[in-house]
Amino acid sequence: MKGTSMEHWIHPLWTDDPWSQFARHLESKAYDGVFILMDENTRRYCLPLFLAHAAGLVHHPLVIPAGEQHKNLDTARYIWENLSRYQANRRSLMICLGGGVVSDIGGFCASTFHRGMDVLNVPTTLLAMADAALGGKNGVDLDSIKNQVGTTWMPAGVLIDPGFLGTLPLTELHAGFAEIVKHALIDGEDFWQRLCSPGTSPWTESARLPVIIAEAAAFKMRIVTQDPSEKGLRKVLNLGHTIGHALETHFLQRGESVSHGWAVAAGIQIENILSVLLGLLNEQTCREINAQLALWYPKLLLSEVDLSEILATMRADKKNRNGRISFSLLRSQGNVDTDCQTDNMDLIKKAILVYVED
Ligand SMILES: NC(=O)c1ccc[n+]([C@@H]2O[C@H](COP(=O)([O-])OP(=O)(O)OC[C@H]3O[C@@H](n4cnc5c(N)ncnc54)[C@H](O)[C@@H]3O)[C@@H](O)[C@H]2O)c1
Repeated sequence: MKGTSMEHWIHPLWTDDPWSQFARHLESKAYDGVFILMDENTRRYCLPLFLAHAAGLVHHPLVIPAGEQHKNLDTARYIWENLSRYQANRRSLMICLGGGVVSDIGGFCASTFHRGMDVLNVPTTLLAMADAALGGKNGVDLDSIKNQVGTTWMPAGVLIDPGFLGTLPLTELHAGFAEIVKHALIDGEDFWQRLCSPGTSPWTESARLPVIIAEAAAFKMRIVTQDPSEKGLRKVLNLGHTIGHALETHFLQRGESVSHGWAVAAGIQIENILSVLLGLLNEQTCREINAQLALWYPKLLLSEVDLSEILATMRADKKNRNGRISFSLLRSQGNVDTDCQTDNMDLIKKAILVYVED
């Protein structure tokens, strides 16, 4: 199936015997050129494992620098120029071997080169396996504002092999776990409680992780299948992300980086407080969830200056409507209100202050 922006076509997710499914896909498509996009780390740590499963695959490597600060139009230009140099065309394939940065920029470049070539995601971080590689959203940052430019372009397939996580630094596992937490809160009490077993840090438990990843990925697929183009339901996945993106953008602009996952974890906590202030979420539930989150993700240190810059960033969020800032807010586990809008910056500021001071 061609990489496509068609509304009702959802990509396959290969989790059982993924490499056989991958081989069958390649055989059936007979691509005119295969490009493997990776960053400098995934070339080093993940390409050998990938090629061990795809022996003999003739490909052009495309290597970009690692890190969110390179998810921009300069890197996109480099990718497009190399696709052009090596004569990629609409019948070629781009394999994105990496974390969310690689699949976001790779999906964007593939969707726009010759007006669209197939893309196949092989996520190598926890965050990408559970979230970023799935569902066809892509993009690059512009002027340090997250994902300002992008498309929705369904990959031809997503291959999940938790074996890639063996080389992923612990900090990245920890950060990626935040998107799983988000999925669990949206999905409901059962999934959330399974994550909360006392005394454990699930992202360190290699025996348990594949099950958690499969559950989180299946959850996201259920949402995306019902609303591929984010007309309604899919917006629940933005839980924690209005504040999370503002935090990430703020630190990016200051030349410091906070991982996407950590920013989302803080974003969920602040938005939970906001949800209480707006009368949506019960205070006790908020306290319980935020206490668990604070155990997993100690608070980000935010000064007064940070605070005003973060509020300014939020006013520029592309999800704003008529100057009103839009949130997806938790009412209870398994129950999220989308399109909660407010222009009350004092209330948002108060929520951030409660997070900082509580
Ligand atoms: N499109 C979506 O739906 C969606 C959803 C959530 C997040 N995102 C995006 O995803 C990005 C974050 O993704 P991420 O956390 O995967 O970051 P990332 O892609 O930057 O990867 C994190 C780091 O780990 C390294 N790495 C990756 N795999 C490795 C491995 N197996 N072994 C060793 N090192 C490895 C990378 O080189 C990088 O340094 C953000 O840009 C965010 O906006 C997109």
